[in-house]
Amino acid sequence: MPNFNFTISQRMDKNLIKNEIKKLREEIDYHNKLYYDESENIISDYEYDQKMNSLINLEKKYPEFKSSSSPSIKIGGNITKEFKTFKHSDKMLSLSNTYSNEDLDEYDKRLKKNLNKENIEYTCELKYDGVALSILYENGKFKRAITRGDGNYGDDISNNVLTIRTLPIKLKNNKSSSLEVRGEAFISKSDFKKLNEKKKERNEQLFSNPRNTASGSLKLQDSTQVAKRRINCFIYSLNRDFEDIMTHEESLKFLKNIGFNVPSTFKKCKNINEVKDYINYWESRRQGLNVETDGIVIKVNNLDYQKKLGSTSKSPRWAIAYKYKAESKETRIKDIIFQVGRTGAITPVAILEPVHIGGSIVKRASLHNANEIERLDIRLGDYVNIEKGGEIIPKITSVVTKKRNPKSVVFDFIRNCPYCKSKLYVEKNQAIHYCKNDRICLPQISGKIEHFISKNAMDIENIGPETIKGLINKNIINNPFDLYTIKYDDIINLEFKLNQDDKIRSLKKKSCKNILESIEKSKKKSFSNLLFGLGIRYVGKTTAEKLTAHFKNIDNLISADFNGVIQVDEVGDKIAESIIKYFSEEENIKLVNNLRKVGLNLREGSDIKKSNKLNGINFVISGKFLKFSRESIQNEIKIHGGKVSKSLSSQTTFLIAGENMGPKKKIKANDLKIKIISEDDFISMI
Ligand code: IVH
Repeated sequence: MPNFNFTISQRMDKNLIKNEIKKLREEIDYHNKLYYDESENIISDYEYDQKMNSLINLEKKYPEFKSSSSPSIKIGGNITKEFKTFKHSDKMLSLSNTYSNEDLDEYDKRLKKNLNKENIEYTCELKYDGVALSILYENGKFKRAITRGDGNYGDDISNNVLTIRTLPIKLKNNKSSSLEVRGEAFISKSDFKKLNEKKKERNEQLFSNPRNTASGSLKLQDSTQVAKRRINCFIYSLNRDFEDIMTHEESLKFLKNIGFNVPSTFKKCKNINEVKDYINYWESRRQGLNVETDGIVIKVNNLDYQKKLGSTSKSPRWAIAYKYKAESKETRIKDIIFQVGRTGAITPVAILEPVHIGGSIVKRASLHNANEIERLDIRLGDYVNIEKGGEIIPKITSVVTKKRNPKSVVFDFIRNCPYCKSKLYVEKNQAIHYCKNDRICLPQISGKIEHFISKNAMDIENIGPETIKGLINKNIINNPFDLYTIKYDDIINLEFKLNQDDKIRSLKKKSCKNILESIEKSKKKSFSNLLFGLGIRYVGKTTAEKLTAHFKNIDNLISADFNGVIQVDEVGDKIAESIIKYFSEEENIKLVNNLRKVGLNLREGSDIKKSNKLNGINFVISGKFLKFSRESIQNEIKIHGGKVSKSLSSQTTFLIAGENMGPKKKIKANDLKIKIISEDDFISMI
């Protein structure tokens, strides 16, 4: 017989609870899927944990609604189909989170009670914000690396993990038949910055943050592409017992001794109060580290105690994470303006009521593109939450809809360029709006000239963006070539104002002389600098170097067809199409011819032989050099009569080792008895 003991209102309440549980499960499943499968997180860890805690509490209180498929029981994530999958020897768990000293005291109390001990020692480590890895070694040699996957099964991403230079292929003084370690793969803050600088040069959409980039990169099918992402890895646990290792602290020292990259920031804490000191110590200092961290991991030090405590289906009882909250503030969007880049890309920017956050005053935040405005449903006048975590750029995380003016309307993205008013267009499957009117649109004209004079291009000093805009306003320049036609008399005492409210600026004798000298000096810049300076979409500094080394002069490049351009190393369809398009435009050919007339370098120096000093010598180069780019060191070898090969063989005479040379190359060079020389040794040879 059904139970009719509920009153109607109780039944209503139960229905509400059931719905609330269903809603929470769906939301958490959705965020898990985004996080594990698409490497994206659109809510903060704190918000996520709050949702999870509400779900756990409701399921505890109303066990009739418990379900084995609830995200409170299973770990999120699916396995990517393209990689071979392996079962983990031990399930890869996650950590429960704490956010306060009270939570920590409670945790310590619980463990003392469970273990029946007066005091517990812990080892604290930073919680690196990356991607969990399990790495297996057999007989002292790398065997395989697996992702966390769904916790039970993960993807074999060995080829990609082998691009991590700090991960040993062979262990030092250890030939255990089987040894598994676990750690976190990540991209350092500085490498992430460099990756995005390259993306910016090529005018490509930027990577959102180091964690997502590391995770996405490890899932790429082509390991040569992965190698370019410069992934690093910290090891934080040894998954095997050794008789003489009794504590977690000892296991970390052991891992370091056998060659793993174990950061020295870990600390043994005698009790929970020392744990709190460690947390306080790193709260602000962690911002200065070159790796993103989002908290502290606190582990019971004694390995026997760890075994006694065991794990739940989701997380170990012997470890817990303390999460630092990303600083978040509420502010109001006063306006949304639109910036036009040199390629015509339109970036919406929110102008904010200024707020103090993460040690600085934030007045604006990029809204990226129309899709992002739509995703967050951002409207003019909205109150929004902004966060400045490890990332340098503040981001709007959500809208405070409760405070929204009921009369506000959905934000309508502009249809015309804010400067030249021409109609904007969006490329298929892309989110960015473009203004195509590049001959007339002022920010595009000034942007192109600013790019042309920038450090990596023609490196023309003494002219700032304001002067460029002033010279354009006064009709003295309109494209990069015009810089070379400027005469002293054109600019001396030139007065200009950038807008109504701007002060009057005037060019004095000294500035004029400096400007003209810098322009003259730039005529000596190399062909690759000039090619980069032309600002062809997607042609960054490295691509320009590859193109000039391949085509030798501009005429060869101009007359090349798509198939010819695509032959060049690292040039794909998108770049090739862009180059062909650029040189199909009459205006651009006219610009090149004008630059030729004023004596700029439109041929590669490599076809000029300098000496025979390296005749008969075969080189392989590896790593990063201080005084040369890879292209230019190859060039130097060739113009002095030497040869360069990609891989080491018995024919190789010297391996030139730069910074961060791959460990595999070093081992192979030693095996083949090839002499390893430094960049400076090479310079003295030529
Ligand atoms: S110990 C649960 N130590 O945090 C198994 N994990 O939610 C024990 N993480 O993705 C993990 N830094 O990869 C441990 N120093 C550290 C860590 C760390 C980052 C990651 C871990 C996992 C997540 C756990």
